[in-house]
Amino acid sequence: MADDKDKLIEKLQKRIKKLEAALKIVTTHSEKAENRMRKQFEVVAKTIPVPMIISTETGEIVFANPNAEKTFGYPPEEFARIRATALYANPDERGLFLDTLSDRRELSGFRIELRKSDGSVFPAVLFARHIDFDGQDAVLTIIHDLTEVMALEKQLRHTQKLEAIGTLTGGIAHDFNNILSVIFGYTEMVTESLDPEKNRLEKEYLDDVLKAARRAKSMIMQMMAFCRKSEHEKKPFRISAVVAEVVKLMGSLTPSDIRIRSDIRDRDMVVMGDPTQIHQVVTNLITNSVHALSDRGGAIDVILDQTDIREEQRRRILTPRPESGTYARITIRDNGPGISKDILDRIFDPFFTTRPVGQGSGMGLAVVHGIIRGHSGAVCVESEPGEGAAFHCYFPVIKEEDDNTKPETGPQSVGNGAERILFVDDELLVLGVYSKLLRGMGYRVTACTESRKALEIFKNQSEAFDLVITDNIMPEMSGRMLSKEILKIRPDIPIVLISGTLPEKNGGLKTTGIRTTIQKPFDRKKIQSVIREVLDAEKQM
Ligand SMILES: Nc1ncnc2c1ncn2[C@@H]1O[C@H](COP(=O)(O)OP(=O)(O)OP(=O)(O)O)[C@@H](O)[C@H]1O
Ligand SMILES: [Mg+2]
Repeated sequence: MADDKDKLIEKLQKRIKKLEAALKIVTTHSEKAENRMRKQFEVVAKTIPVPMIISTETGEIVFANPNAEKTFGYPPEEFARIRATALYANPDERGLFLDTLSDRRELSGFRIELRKSDGSVFPAVLFARHIDFDGQDAVLTIIHDLTEVMALEKQLRHTQKLEAIGTLTGGIAHDFNNILSVIFGYTEMVTESLDPEKNRLEKEYLDDVLKAARRAKSMIMQMMAFCRKSEHEKKPFRISAVVAEVVKLMGSLTPSDIRIRSDIRDRDMVVMGDPTQIHQVVTNLITNSVHALSDRGGAIDVILDQTDIREEQRRRILTPRPESGTYARITIRDNGPGISKDILDRIFDPFFTTRPVGQGSGMGLAVVHGIIRGHSGAVCVESEPGEGAAFHCYFPVIKEEDDNTKPETGPQSVGNGAERILFVDDELLVLGVYSKLLRGMGYRVTACTESRKALEIFKNQSEAFDLVITDNIMPEMSGRMLSKEILKIRPDIPIVLISGTLPEKNGGLKTTGIRTTIQKPFDRKKIQSVIREVLDAEKQM
């Protein structure tokens, strides 16, 4: 009996040992599995490119991934010390976050403002859920920093606003050019018909009319440059030459207590564009710096160097967003009063100025923006109040070598003529003034307000004309279309296109057969020289 009992105990003990061994195997396995899981979790937490935090309901931070450390600026050990409420711009809002989470168990898209270790606040959106972490109930929170997205949104809104203003300005500029054409034309004609002795006073008055009209013209040119609607031929040119020229020019015009220093670090960069417009960009920016320094004097640095735009975008927000590649960067930096944050967003807006009434039109930077946009470039401004301002302008560098940087030859000697001209413009007043002007020079002018009718006239007597001058923007048939039809009838006829505001980009002119364009409003001398140039070139052919 006792033997049986002993045997049973022995058997049971063996079984217990086996069970213990099995249990040991199971626990080490599950420890291993747990370790493996933990490692996997750590790899995931380290790899995901967003901040991730695990906290308890009471606000203890039990885990923060490296991205959270980077975003909030706390070293790893610091996270263990602070409370989760410290990460909120308004600490009370953690309560709201937890309440919303417990209502739904899982939370996504919770918009909130968070706080970094240096006290700065940033917009964010939170994604969260309850989890079991090391055996306790915890909240896993994934944070999406919205700073960059919001900056881009703002930039987009700003670009759209500028586009809208640009379209509006383009329309106004077009009408004003026609109005000014009439004022210029008749004023010049009347001035010439006056007797210099007897009508001295009248002549003076008319000179003032012309002066005012010229001022209006230059303002419209600026407005058109802003909305990229003026016709400029683009060509490759060395940007360093333009920068050097402006610095030299501005240096001679600036009071001696303001020093302009230039640092041209790359002389060979060739960009595609209009040197006159780039000249204007640099001039406008230096002029602004000169104004900023006018009370106290100071220094303006103009730096030209080459940059990789991707690198640049990592550090600065450029508008409009440029394509990747190599860019020429012109920096204009001054040590003046700088620009306060509340107006920084508006300085590129047309007509925004802080200068006294009558002193600044507020078009300077709008023009800079427009020209840069037209050159597929970008611009950005950096300024801390009291520490001056820096404007960086970027223009894409082209590969091809520069063989076209010679200055354009000026107009040749100007004369009149007796050739026959077909003149087309839908504005009766404009047509009236120019055809009278041309007749006054001796030309035989057929004037026509409708492009279709002009085409009829030309069809019926194509040999009766030596030159066609046509406005571009007209109802029914544009000047470009009319030119195309006319050239089908007589491919050799020279055509001059008048551009008020051409809607298309440059460059297409050569393939259309149109000889040249002339920008409205033009004065007597300009149209005279353009006509002679075209007709004389014709004779030499
Ligand atoms: N370098 C600078 N330092 C300080 N403020 C500047 C600087 N550049 C521009 N600003 C601010 O931006 C505003 C807009 O400049 P913008 O060139 O467009 O117009 P403006 O200089 O006022 O007038 P305009 O150029 O038409 O004569 C200025 O009125 C000024 O407040
Ligand atoms: Mg200005």
